[in-house]
Amino acid sequence: MAAFIIRRGPGYLKCCQTGVRLSHAQAACRDILEGELEGIREAGTWKTERVITSKQAVKIRVQGKESGILNFCSNNYLGLSSHPEVIRAGKDALDKYGAGLSSVRFICGTQDIHMDLEEKIARFHGRDDAILYASCFDANAGLFEILLTPEDAVLSDELNHASIIDGIRLCKARKLRYQHKNMQDLETKLQECKDEARMKVIATDGVFSMDGNVAPLAEMCNLADKYNALVFIDECHATGFFGATGRGTEEHFNLPPGRVDIINSTLGKALGGAAGGYTTGPKELITLLRQRARPYLFSNSVPPPVVACANKVFDLLLGSSGFAEKVQANTDRFRSQMTDAGFTLAGENHPICPVMLGDARLASNFADQMLERGIYVIGFSYPVVPKGKARIRVQISASHTFEDIDQTVEAFKQVGKGLGVIG
Ligand SMILES: Cc1ncc(COP(=O)(O)O)c(C=O)c1O
Repeated sequence: MAAFIIRRGPGYLKCCQTGVRLSHAQAACRDILEGELEGIREAGTWKTERVITSKQAVKIRVQGKESGILNFCSNNYLGLSSHPEVIRAGKDALDKYGAGLSSVRFICGTQDIHMDLEEKIARFHGRDDAILYASCFDANAGLFEILLTPEDAVLSDELNHASIIDGIRLCKARKLRYQHKNMQDLETKLQECKDEARMKVIATDGVFSMDGNVAPLAEMCNLADKYNALVFIDECHATGFFGATGRGTEEHFNLPPGRVDIINSTLGKALGGAAGGYTTGPKELITLLRQRARPYLFSNSVPPPVVACANKVFDLLLGSSGFAEKVQANTDRFRSQMTDAGFTLAGENHPICPVMLGDARLASNFADQMLERGIYVIGFSYPVVPKGKARIRVQISASHTFEDIDQTVEAFKQVGKGLGVIG
C-alpha cells in the first residue's frame, strides 16, 4: 500500500523502454548504471554470453550455429561433466533422494550421500576430514573468518582468486599481500609479522586460473616451516587432473599428502562440473567449520543429484589414475604446436593455455572468428585480467582427441595470420 501511494506522487518520469513510470531516484540510479555500462562497452571489455543448447562436452551445440562446435574453453578438464556413469548416478539419486533438501545441513539437510562424499574427498586428498559447501566461493568465504582472529596474520598472493580475496576481507586478522609468486617478498612479509602473530597463514591459488601458472609450493612450505606458518591452497584448477594421479599441486611438486595444511577446491570444474566446493584438512578445523562457518550454517545443503554425481566422480578417480595422463598428453601437444606456430602462450605446462594477444578488441574478434571455424574459445579482458593483457584462454580436456587439438591449432593459425598476430 505504501509503495502504491508513493508511486502516485508527482514528479515522475517515464521509462522509455518499458513505459513504466520512474521516480527521480529510480531514474537517477538507471542513469548512473547506464553510464557504467557504456564505459564497459567503450573499453571493449563487454562480455556476451553465448547460449549452448547441448550438454557440456568436447562437441557442443551453440544457438545460431548449424553444426557441432569444438569446445576449448570449459573447466571440464576430465570430460566428466557428461560422463554416462556420472549422469546415471545423478538420475538414480533424483529418484531415491529427491531434488533437494529444503534445509541447511544441521537441521534436516544431511543425507548418507553427503557423508559418503565428504569421506571420499578426505580420502582422495589423504586428509583427516572434509566439509562440503554449495561452492568453492563459499568454502573460501567461510574459512578465514573462522580460522583467524585479530591476533593472527594472513599472507596472500596479490593475484589470488576473487573468492580468496573476499574470504580474507571477512576475517579480522592482519592482512599482508605479497607479490605474485615472489618468495622473497613473502619472506619479507613473514618477517614483518613473525613476532606479533599468534597464527600465520600463507594463502595462495595452487594454480592461477588466468595465467595457468603454478604457486612455488615447495619453497612456500619451507618458508612456512621456517616462520612457523600454515599453508592454504585453492585447488580449483588442479584437483583431479594436475600431478601424476590428479592429487593436485602438492603432488605436482612431489610433496607428500598433508604437507599443505588446508585445501579448498570445487566440484564445479574437473570433478563433474555441477556445483559444490569443500575444505579438507585437520579434523579440528573441519569440526569447527561445521559449527561456525557462515556459508555452511546459513545456506542450503548441496542437492542430492549433485552430491551423487560427485560421489561417482570420486569413485572413478579413486579407482584409476589414467585421467591425469591423458590431459597432460593433450596439453603438451597443444602447447608445443602453438609455440611452433609463433603464438605466445602464458603459464606453465598446465591445461590452462592462455594465448596472449594484448588488445581486448583483438581478443574478442579473434574468438568470434574461431567460432566461425567451429571452435569455441573466449577472449578474456579487463577486469578479469589486467588492462593490455587480453588473451584467449584455451583449456584442454582429457576428452579432446589429438585430431581435435590439431584442428584447433590449424584454426588458430588461420585466424592468427588473418589478424596479423603471427607471420
Ligand atoms: C581459483 C578459484 N577459486 C574458487 C572458485 C570458485 O569456485 P565455485 O565455482 O565452486 O564457486 C573458482 C571458480 O571460478 C576459481 O577459479
